[in-house]
Amino acid sequence: MNPKILIAYSSRTGNTEKVAKAIYEVLSARSDIQKLPEVNCEKYDTVVMGYWVDKGTANEESLNFIKSLSGKKVVLFGTLGAGDYNGYYQKVREAVEKELPADCTLLGHKLFRATSIMLHRLRKQHAENPDDLEIKKRLEDYEKNKHRPDENDLKEAQEFVLSILGK
Ligand SMILES: Cc1cc2nc3c(=O)[nH]c(=O)nc-3n(C[C@H](O)[C@H](O)[C@H](O)COP(=O)(O)O)c2cc1C
Repeated sequence: MNPKILIAYSSRTGNTEKVAKAIYEVLSARSDIQKLPEVNCEKYDTVVMGYWVDKGTANEESLNFIKSLSGKKVVLFGTLGAGDYNGYYQKVREAVEKELPADCTLLGHKLFRATSIMLHRLRKQHAENPDDLEIKKRLEDYEKNKHRPDENDLKEAQEFVLSILGK
């Protein structure tokens, strides 16, 4: 039987790829995995799509793909550098979901914290402004999460898709 599930993802620094591959580990027998932009989802009825967050929404390559998912069942996941403060994750999810075609079915959507290039910027900013407590606090938060996505995140991602698509 041909696999019915496509795992598609976009990744610049490897975080989203890690999560996508962890998901593929548990779906492998019934799925294929493809990295954007070389993706053709025609023959699949379900698409698990991984994007990375760029300026509060999915990165452009992912957005273009998400807009093309007409008629599909869709599971979305994203990786991002920021923590979930002041409803940020909900805002990101909404910004991405509004790009889905009206006739697709969204089955689930989850965000995973990951390391980001912001860490280097924050280190520099902190070195230049050692008394700025706001920068210090943000830097500490980014340092604490610099090894993510970690084993727990990958396990969570696997459980997330299995809870939606079945074991
Ligand atoms: C150009 C750029 C813009 C980003 N914008 C955001 C953002 O708005 N919010 C956020 O939480 N993280 C942001 N990040 C962090 C990435 O979303 C995060 O590192 C992600 O895991 C990268 O995925 P990848 O390793 O698969 O490329 C940005 C990173 C880059 C390079």
